[in-house]
Amino acid sequence: MSQNLFDQRLSSPAVARNRDAILAVLRDVLPQQGKVLEVASGSGEHALYLARHLPAILWQPSDPNPQALASIAAWRKTEPLDNLLEPVQLDATLRPWPVGDFDARVCINMIHIAPWEAAQALFVEVGKVLEEGGVLYLYGPFKRDGQHTAASNAAFDEDLRRRDPRWGVRDLSDIAALAQENTLRIERIVEMPANNLSLVLRK
Ligand SMILES: C[S@@+](CC[C@H](N)C(=O)[O-])C[C@H]1O[C@@H](n2cnc3c(N)ncnc32)[C@H](O)[C@@H]1O
Repeated sequence: MSQNLFDQRLSSPAVARNRDAILAVLRDVLPQQGKVLEVASGSGEHALYLARHLPAILWQPSDPNPQALASIAAWRKTEPLDNLLEPVQLDATLRPWPVGDFDARVCINMIHIAPWEAAQALFVEVGKVLEEGGVLYLYGPFKRDGQHTAASNAAFDEDLRRRDPRWGVRDLSDIAALAQENTLRIERIVEMPANNLSLVLRK
């Protein structure tokens, strides 16, 4: 992520490359209207873009990192979107979460760039409140049957683990097991650009 010279907006180049593919899946799986919690919003660029294109959805961005929260707030000021809320500070591992009710939860590119405990906490917190028809949407790179799906993902995984041994590309079977432990199931897997996947989880 890089920072805009004149304000607190951070920018992640990957967002421009994946946001339309993510939007297409979300159009399909989110309720027609309702409130969505985005966990780990990062720069806030997804929040701005998705709120703009899903006007019937009230979008709640969040992140634990103060710099990210400042960036989300700064991006939010660039456009008058009634449906994009002020970001809230949320660390998935600090349970219970200090947030209210939502119709769906979205988490893009977090669980491989955080300790496994963050994924566990995410599934526990979502599993205990998710209602029939509610959705948890995940996006990121995943291994299948212990194997990377592309050489670029293997290299990325190595780089992640070098940066922090607790990080790393997760295996779909571990996600499926974690889902089951928390009364969720992977309903749909969608192949995304650059060897990423969308996972749609429901009760
Ligand atoms: C690679 S960034 C992804 C940001 C954004 N979703 C995107 O795709 O551009 C990972 C984000 O996960 C957040 N994060 C790390 N650990 C977390 C945790 N325990 N709970 C919630 N968010 C966390 C970081 O602060 C960071 O903003």
